[in-house]
Amino acid sequence: STDDRISRISSSIRVIPDFPKPGIMFQDITTLLLDPKAFKDTIDLFVERYKDQNINVVAGIEARGFIFGPPIALAIGAKFVPMRKPKKLPGEVISEEYSLEYGTDIMEMHVGAVQAGERALVVDDLIATGGTLSAAIRLLERVGVDVVECACVIELPELKGRNRLGDKPLFVLVT
Ligand code: PRP
Repeated sequence: STDDRISRISSSIRVIPDFPKPGIMFQDITTLLLDPKAFKDTIDLFVERYKDQNINVVAGIEARGFIFGPPIALAIGAKFVPMRKPKKLPGEVISEEYSLEYGTDIMEMHVGAVQAGERALVVDDLIATGGTLSAAIRLLERVGVDVVECACVIELPELKGRNRLGDKPLFVLVT
């Protein structure tokens, strides 16, 4: 059942206290990747949700959106577009600044990777404050892409990241 699959996925995620800093409980999805059934169930749950939604773009956020995004894109027949840290993409890019706990960061996407009117799903492993996903949504919407939904494996609900996504739907497997 769906509940059995979610339980297995949840149990396969390792929590490492005080990484990368004291007080942070790091949600480590590398242990999920070591369990082929949990990894497959993760991808299948997303594919079941998105296969008939006419999505033509899966935008994956560096770094762990590059693990979950491509198998979803292949299964639903969408292209995969990497949303990267600055100065990594070789072609012409558009950039979006976003705030972190201390300071700011920049996300970049290749110009021409997506077209106005296309329908996108944004994929990452985890939503915390929501700053990262909101930057990805802004980048795509600036070029006229319709962001249908964001999908993450894990949500940390106490950080209320959902509130930063406005009215954009967020789908998560594990809370
Ligand atoms: C983590 C996570 C998300 C982001 C979520 O990435 O994988 O991309 O933080 O945080 P937010 O909702 O508060 O914006 P991280 O900063 O660890 O970068 P990395 O994946 O490149 O290691």
